[in-house]
Amino acid sequence: MKQDTQEMIASMTLEEKASLCSGLDLFHLKGIDRLGIPSISLSDGPHGLRIETSDQNNPGFDKCIHTTSFPTASATASSWDRNLMFEVGRALGAECLHEEVAIILGPGVNIKRSPRCGRNFEYISEDPYLTGELASSLIEGVQTMGVGTSLKHFAANNQEYRRMTIDSIVDERTLREIYLTGFELAVKKAHPWTVMCSYNQVNGTFASEHEHLLTRILRDEWGFNGPVISDWGACDDRVAGLKAGLDLEMPSSAGVNDFKIVKAVREGTLDEAVLDRTLGRLLEIIKTAAENRQPDYTYNVTSHHVIARQAAAESIVMLKNEDGILPLKMGDNIAVIGAFAVHPRYRGGGSSQVNPCRLEKAYCELIKYTSNIAFSKGYDQKTDVPDEALIRDACAAAMCADVTVVFAGLPESYESEGLDREHLRLPESHNMLISRVAEVNPNTIVVLSNGAPVEMPWIDEVKAVLEGYLGGQAGGGAAADVLFGMVNPSGKLAETFALNMEDYPSARYFPGGPKTVEYREGIYVGYRYFDTAKKAVLFPFGYGLSYTTFAYSDLTIDNRRIRDDQEVKVSITIKNTGTEAGAEVVQLYVKDVESTIFRPEKELKGFDKVFLQPGEENQVEFTLDKRSFAYYNVNIADWHVESGAFEILIGSSSVDIRARDKVWVETTKPDAPVPDLRQTAPIYYNLPAGDMVIDEQSLKALYGKELPQNRRLPGEAYTINSTLGDIKDNFFGKLFYNVIQGNSHKTILENEEGEPQKILTASMIDDLPLRSLPMFSNRFITEGTVDGLLLMMNKRPLTGLIRLSAALLKIG
Ligand code: BGC
Repeated sequence: MKQDTQEMIASMTLEEKASLCSGLDLFHLKGIDRLGIPSISLSDGPHGLRIETSDQNNPGFDKCIHTTSFPTASATASSWDRNLMFEVGRALGAECLHEEVAIILGPGVNIKRSPRCGRNFEYISEDPYLTGELASSLIEGVQTMGVGTSLKHFAANNQEYRRMTIDSIVDERTLREIYLTGFELAVKKAHPWTVMCSYNQVNGTFASEHEHLLTRILRDEWGFNGPVISDWGACDDRVAGLKAGLDLEMPSSAGVNDFKIVKAVREGTLDEAVLDRTLGRLLEIIKTAAENRQPDYTYNVTSHHVIARQAAAESIVMLKNEDGILPLKMGDNIAVIGAFAVHPRYRGGGSSQVNPCRLEKAYCELIKYTSNIAFSKGYDQKTDVPDEALIRDACAAAMCADVTVVFAGLPESYESEGLDREHLRLPESHNMLISRVAEVNPNTIVVLSNGAPVEMPWIDEVKAVLEGYLGGQAGGGAAADVLFGMVNPSGKLAETFALNMEDYPSARYFPGGPKTVEYREGIYVGYRYFDTAKKAVLFPFGYGLSYTTFAYSDLTIDNRRIRDDQEVKVSITIKNTGTEAGAEVVQLYVKDVESTIFRPEKELKGFDKVFLQPGEENQVEFTLDKRSFAYYNVNIADWHVESGAFEILIGSSSVDIRARDKVWVETTKPDAPVPDLRQTAPIYYNLPAGDMVIDEQSLKALYGKELPQNRRLPGEAYTINSTLGDIKDNFFGKLFYNVIQGNSHKTILENEEGEPQKILTASMIDDLPLRSLPMFSNRFITEGTVDGLLLMMNKRPLTGLIRLSAALLKIG
């Protein structure tokens, strides 16, 4: 692509321009041969490359090439290690270069509003600062290889239930402070090539046509100048999307939406300059991608496996280690129990499901360290029901051992894209196994594989717990390394583990539906809530144990009185006071001690990871700026600091604060009116220690306007955004639904998919909006069919029938 972008746009026909605004197929952009514009490819993402090889004759979700399966985001987030994220990113970039993938679809930076979101394994944290920082490093790693990223899913996409239509009702302050900050940091710091908008609506408008998000905030405020891509099938009104700032529709709409763009320009409802602006952004990345291509690029598969193992080991969080039972001693007689030790759960389900190029099994890795090991399966992976014979066998093995290591966690079918969890329990077969084994052998250690928090009813019965999350293809080896002390665990939780599911602040308001989900808890997400409400948790945010100990001393602050446009430097000395080399994640929290607006007890504003030899010490430095002290003031539509004292808290977790001091910050906007909800929504100033019940009036005060209806009104017309589940209450809709359901069941059964994939596909059908049927049916169902059906359901049966028949016969 030698020509200048503007000249190229000028030489295109209107049809050519419109054609570039949507995909060629599932994972390619269109090119234009005449102008030498190549077709570049995109691929999932984000924890390894997922390049599908399936086609109509060889269908199946699992049909994709073999690549390195890195630990998922919830795992690597626990490393709190920017360098590690960068290295993983670089390795991903290298694999993209090799496969000629121009852009990898990730990272995912949606905030973990509830641990139930089925896709949390793919997201980083409940904290936006940690999210933004780690995402930035991953992006920088990928992009340093000349490969692009797609920061996703923008925005307020915090659940899978009805994700293609749900309207997230979230007040502006909460949106800015919690749900957008991760995106903002990553955009400003790492400059991702692209951003992917989410499926859902945000305060009444689809993210794919949300001008406030896509243009005002993303571009005008944050300075993003790349293209915005739609999530796959997220387009609602294509022309409205284009005007709002959505550049590329993915995947292909078979020309249907391109035609709408052409028509709109011809009819004068879309300014061609808007289209040209989009083309400018698209051509820039196509050009960069083309220039960066290295068709002969190869990478070392073994060295990527080594990175995957390091990443998994650094991400393991040691949650408990009573009596220093870990690390295991070489002479120990060990019983390894649990099918996961030989059939690991190591990856998430859905679009990020990678086919690994190797797969380590913990049991096989452990016997490399010692041969003094017995194995017992403990549970049947095909069912949740405890198997008495397997448990008895496991107990027999445990009784003969010095130490028992149980591998347990969540089966694949429990958490996936497209599906939220209904509870936080492990399968009963795992829970019962752990308790029974611990009963016969008090030296029981549990190694967990799960993408998100689980309840641990047996926590007091076992001596140690390692949270391995979904460790990728080398998770088995990483667990062995930590168990035997070859790696000193240094992971810290990037999310709170509550005692029970009901304890989470969003518990009563998640996942909402059928139309809206109200973010009633506002800014009180994760530790911001638990710390403020002083609610006990199982394991707090930022927590994780080590085989060594660290001392914190000499907290110094370079300037105790600053204006909010000045920076302040904070430093602290960390010393390894134990006998093992190890790394400590040092966390800096800020607490506003004198605010009139409601604020969380403390917020993370800095962190660093230091590796120290025994006896070694090092100074860690942080720089704080206005944003470290500010809240988002909706009255002035800007970040604002209230003058006064702020405490700087430095700790080893959000609750283990080792040093504290104060600074005084003076605002540069003394006249800014501070929002005052003390009369209208007092609950946000004084959180209940019990259930987090927020009434509608309080939310209304916070939201600042009427709350939209969360149900279909009687007689309300069906639209392209009605879901298959919604239309079941209509006579014609029900008929249509039955046909679709029958057909998809047949297809699901005929395909050689694994059980989890079948469950996922079946459960997603009800949530599919009519607008996405053409895409999901491979255009067997066309827009015409949907139009016809809508007319029939909306009381125009005859016209609808004619339209439907024409569509089926492919006329008109
Ligand atoms: C997911 C995206 C993914 C895309 C392409 C969508 O369903 O939400 O995260 O990148 O599919 O596979």
